[in-house]
Amino acid sequence: MNLSIRSTIFFSVLFIICSTETSNLRVTRGIGLKLNNTGICEIEVPVVSILPPELKHTAGSIRGNGTNPAYSKIKLCCTGYKQAAHSPFHCVPDCPNGCGLGNCTAPNVCSCNKHAGIGPDGKCITVCPKGCLNGQCYGAFCNCNPGFTIAPNNNYCIKGCNKNCGPGGQCVANNQCKCQTGYQLNSHGTCAMICDNGYKVVGNACEPICGGGCVNGECVAPNQCKCNPGYTMQLGACVPKCVNPCYNGVCSAPNVCTCKQGYVKDNDNPRSNRCIAYCAHGCVNAVCSAPNFCICKQGFRKESKGSNVCVKA
Ligand SMILES: *[C@@H]1O[C@H](CO)[C@@H](O)[C@H](O)[C@H]1NC(C)=O
Ligand SMILES: *[C@@H]1O[C@H](CO)[C@@H](O)[C@H](O)[C@H]1NC(C)=O
Ligand SMILES: *[C@@H]1O[C@H](CO)[C@@H](O)[C@H](O)[C@H]1NC(C)=O
Repeated sequence: MNLSIRSTIFFSVLFIICSTETSNLRVTRGIGLKLNNTGICEIEVPVVSILPPELKHTAGSIRGNGTNPAYSKIKLCCTGYKQAAHSPFHCVPDCPNGCGLGNCTAPNVCSCNKHAGIGPDGKCITVCPKGCLNGQCYGAFCNCNPGFTIAPNNNYCIKGCNKNCGPGGQCVANNQCKCQTGYQLNSHGTCAMICDNGYKVVGNACEPICGGGCVNGECVAPNQCKCNPGYTMQLGACVPKCVNPCYNGVCSAPNVCTCKQGYVKDNDNPRSNRCIAYCAHGCVNAVCSAPNFCICKQGFRKESKGSNVCVKA
């Protein structure tokens, strides 16, 4: 009985036996139990199946050591393992493609030697800085031959694009980019995000468009600005807010009043929100009530029309 053929139907989980009657032969499917981490599996098979042909007629008189006397426990290499050469009960991990410059350390897993890395078919190949598949190694990087592109996370080159397919794309053969869902080819031939109306691609995201821009604010939705702190929306623009209204001035920045022409800050209170009229030549016996306009104090009259000097009435 060739055990390696039978082993192809064993799996490394707790064993279950299911038997079916086919003509007068009992066919058994065993699901093996993986014994610790040796790669050895124990399964139960009908006693008759492990007897040599000339002894098969004695099967009925032989008690197997399985949970049922008609069955015996035998040890095999688990799926993913193979019997080591010259060592009947030593099972080693199997890498069917081989490992090239490395060793098979688990089923289908190669551990690569120094300066080797996993290549396109799972085998270990020479990588930078010793060499590059389909390219030349410069320093620690592979410079790929024309028509080849660097493999993701690996120091070798695969057939593919010379161009960059963008964050949402993958290079497929012949310099073509395949875009993943949510991305489409843009005019540069790379995969860019598909954005809803009113949004544009910025980096790898869709950002809203505010036609007029958002001075002193931030565009938070199409044509919708959110004003920066200290600013408030007025007639579609973010304007500074002054907690105390500006007298004879304009609110030019948050809580900053700038005096209108002809007005100056009151020197007695330069940080107030109030600007006072400025009379360039001063006012004699009068007060400056508007830019360059003096009003006489009580009991005085203007020396002449428009003068800044008042005399006793
Ligand atoms: C694993 O199981 C095998 C077979 O039962 C046994 O011979 C071996 O000593 C066990 N190894 C460990 C590390 O438990
Ligand atoms: C059970 O019987 C089989 C077949 O005779 C033998 O190879 C195996 O070593 C036995 N197992 C135990 C645990 O005795
Ligand atoms: C692979 O096995 C060989 C021989 O046992 C050993 O010299 C080498 O260091 C192993 N390589 C790795 C990466 O484990």
